[in-house]
Amino acid sequence: MTTTRRQSVELVRFDQVGLMYPGGQPVLHGLSHSFYVGSFTFITGISGAGKTSLLKLMYREAQSTEGTVRVFGKDVAKLSRAELPQFRQRIGIVFQDCRLLSHLTVLDNVALALKITGADVKSSRVYAKELLEWVGLGQHLMDYPAILSDGQKQRVAVARAVIGRPLILLADEPTGNLDYESGYRLLRLFEELNKIGTTVVVATHNKNLISEFSYPELELYQGRLISRGREALKVYSNASQKQY
Ligand SMILES: Nc1ncnc2c1ncn2[C@@H]1O[C@H](COP(=O)(O)OP(=O)(O)OP(=O)(O)O)[C@@H](O)[C@H]1O
Ligand SMILES: [Mg+2]
Repeated sequence: MTTTRRQSVELVRFDQVGLMYPGGQPVLHGLSHSFYVGSFTFITGISGAGKTSLLKLMYREAQSTEGTVRVFGKDVAKLSRAELPQFRQRIGIVFQDCRLLSHLTVLDNVALALKITGADVKSSRVYAKELLEWVGLGQHLMDYPAILSDGQKQRVAVARAVIGRPLILLADEPTGNLDYESGYRLLRLFEELNKIGTTVVVATHNKNLISEFSYPELELYQGRLISRGREALKVYSNASQKQY
């Protein structure tokens, strides 16, 4: 066991997880894996392999039908309805389709995500502006989503996902609608976030893009996560380590 692994702290732990939607085939089966604090992981796999489902289990949009999913040290099956909003505040999610609110400006889309956590309007807007400048949208604060390009919308979605300073960022096909250059820049933003401590999990089909990065790739195959031969993965691949 390496020193790195001994000192690692699990943020998310899957133990023998199975998932089967009502009336469907098993999607995940016997899946065990830990995502450690500060890690950056790509999840790949063919369409229908279960990438979105895996992410949904982490923010309890879906629930496992076998095994346990622990996030921040807690079995997510045991979270009460009242605990869910606070639980999800610590998770940033970038959806493939962005899900921006069309009647709000770019600035307000991002500020709202902080305001609903109880922050005051003024400081929410100040911080939203800072983040939008960071993602290169300082010139678009007062624009409405409809006039933005797909890449710009994705960057708004990233700013919105991280404004609450989440412990973990989950991104589902964030580069799906983007050209290579825009996708690359988006992943670089994720890398910057990871460097300041955010744990990042990106589900993607885009093998060419991820080959530009040295982070571990796990492929969902027949319901389980399989290492795709990157040396760094060894640090993350053993689910039997210590608790969060
Ligand atoms: N809400 C649901 N109800 C029933 N079946 C579902 C539901 N969501 C997903 N599935 C099924 O689960 C399987 C995995 O779907 P999922 O969306 O997780 O795959 P994916 O790897 O994200 O695919 P893609 O690359 O196309 O986004 C598919 O067979 C899908 O039809
Ligand atoms: Mg998907």
